[in-house]
Amino acid sequence: MTDSSEESVELEARLEEQGSFDPPESFVEQANVADPGIYEEFEENWPECWEGAADLLSWDREYETVLEDDDAPFYKWFTGGELNASANCLDRHVENGAKNRAAIKWEGELGETRTYTYGDLLNEVEAFAAALRDLGVGEDDVVTLYLPMIPELPVAMLACARIGAPHSVVFAGFSADALATRMNAADSEYLVTCDGYYRRGDALNHKEKADKGVRGVDHDVTSVVVDRLGDELKHFLGDSAHDYGELVEQHEGASVDPVSRDAEDMLFLMYTSGTTGQPKGVKHTTGGYLAYAAWTSHAVLDVKPEDTYWCAADIGWITGHSYIVYGPLALGTTTMMYEGTPDYPDRDRLWELVEKNDVDIFYTAPTAIRAFMKWGSQYPEKHDLSSLRLLGTVGEPINPRAWKWYYTHIGGDECPIVDTWWQTETGGMMITTLPGIGTMKPGSAGPPLPGIDARIVDAAGENVEAGDAGYLTVQKPWPGMLRTLYQNDERFLSEYWQEYSDEETDEWVYFPEDGAKIDDDGYITILGRVDDVINVSGHRLGTMEIESAIVGTEGVAEAAVVGGDHDLKGEAVYAYVILEDGQDPTDAMSDRIVEEVEDAIGPIARPEEVIFTPELPKTRSGKIMRRLLEDIASGNELGNTSTLRNPEVVDEIAAQVESD
Ligand code: WT7
Repeated sequence: MTDSSEESVELEARLEEQGSFDPPESFVEQANVADPGIYEEFEENWPECWEGAADLLSWDREYETVLEDDDAPFYKWFTGGELNASANCLDRHVENGAKNRAAIKWEGELGETRTYTYGDLLNEVEAFAAALRDLGVGEDDVVTLYLPMIPELPVAMLACARIGAPHSVVFAGFSADALATRMNAADSEYLVTCDGYYRRGDALNHKEKADKGVRGVDHDVTSVVVDRLGDELKHFLGDSAHDYGELVEQHEGASVDPVSRDAEDMLFLMYTSGTTGQPKGVKHTTGGYLAYAAWTSHAVLDVKPEDTYWCAADIGWITGHSYIVYGPLALGTTTMMYEGTPDYPDRDRLWELVEKNDVDIFYTAPTAIRAFMKWGSQYPEKHDLSSLRLLGTVGEPINPRAWKWYYTHIGGDECPIVDTWWQTETGGMMITTLPGIGTMKPGSAGPPLPGIDARIVDAAGENVEAGDAGYLTVQKPWPGMLRTLYQNDERFLSEYWQEYSDEETDEWVYFPEDGAKIDDDGYITILGRVDDVINVSGHRLGTMEIESAIVGTEGVAEAAVVGGDHDLKGEAVYAYVILEDGQDPTDAMSDRIVEEVEDAIGPIARPEEVIFTPELPKTRSGKIMRRLLEDIASGNELGNTSTLRNPEVVDEIAAQVESD
């Protein structure tokens, strides 16, 4: 992990220039949460404190118990309660007079716009829910949604939620193989996809990928295809595919009663990368997840119904689930969606959208902020960004320089920034300042949220001293937590609960597999993953998944993939490859390897560099020294290599990386 001396020097430098910032009075005055007493209140009144989160929702049946821990760590929240997520995101707002308020404001890459009021959204969700039922989708059938950032994606999510069918959204940038793996793992017989979408002005064919993916599924699949591109890209529907537009038209005006779901019933599955080659199907539930997404949107993002709120993430990741769709819509606000890239047609596209829509709250990732910073402040300066009240960041550590740039050039020195640490598994934010309360320290996420018991421990599980690095743990359950890994309780236990729990005393400690450091004031600075997961542009990739794609290339004998520092992406993929005897380390071979990775996972996993080597540095016991490979990739000074079985290979590899 983060104990090498170079890294701690780097960390010191990072924190030295930190400084601290207090939220402006004008923000505090209107903040949803402004009383610092909330921390103590939650601590004293735990777990009942979470009733306040459940109160943000409308329940068909009141829950009986806030937290059931008899079968820990298989915790249950709000047991006995029943509710429907789509009714919470739509019907109740329509009934409460918000029928004509914009629910989703969408902008396509070419500039076309669509606004769905809460009334419109409910109508389309009901029509599509009726259509899904007609196609045979029943309660608890997993429906896979392989769609880009178009409004039909949240419509489909809410339609599934309405009829009690869990969705599994697969990021549109993932490959056909990745789609097939996820559909097989979830036994998903239904797919909603589209013909294509725009990227930097080009029409991308998405259906080709979807079709190829379906061919890799080992059971029959019924598909629905959204016609996003019209004449721009003609497509054909086979026997088992239906046109989304036709289905919605046929079911126009349908009324579909929201199915009352048990609080613990699955709302969705979300696959994420782990240490092994097989992605993990993270299971989130209807009551706890939704309450937590709504509560954190209220307390951390300060969302109010009259706001225009924009989380510029992709719904294909958990950030989009919790903070584009479920959290904001549960609170009845206007949530924005943008189809395209931030630099198309020019590098001021996002700021143009902020100005045009009077966006109040903006939430993005450090990788995007680093790109904005590199492009220069002339782009945001072209626009009036004074509508902004709050900024957020998520996905990876943000360095103080990027934080300050964001604060000044986007926030005009007047908007608090929330640096929110969380994960696919946590369902919602866990560590961050509350914007109306906490002093901000750039580079440090802040204290754990009220009710969240996060601690930094050493390898033995003891709390580390302030200032020391250790492992991040969460020592009490929380409503948004994953319940298990789909059909794999064993892996759930071994991945998250084995490291620091004590089964004998029934003490359960959640291990997120991040390193962190804590200050005297309880602020937590996240240092990054301590497992074989790398974070490329805020996206989590398993090194094993990439390695197994690479060794699938003809002529490759062995591969080791590590993350190396990258100015814009945070980390980039570096692949060290050993070829079979008689194979030449040519550019063509390198291209084939890259292609193989793109086919297996998607362009986001594309190696930055393929480094051919006759051997990998190994310890005497035969373990690959990944740390060393990471240092080589990042251009760090190399530590002691004398404990290696083959120290001579290190200089050889390093020389090659330098010459590339
Ligand atoms: C991993 C989770 C949470 C939605 C996006 C990513 C890293 C996340 C921060 C932050 C430092 C962060 C962690 C975490 N991470 N937020 N504010 N500061 N690191 O979700 O794909 O499940 O990845 O992202 O390493 O474990 P994910």
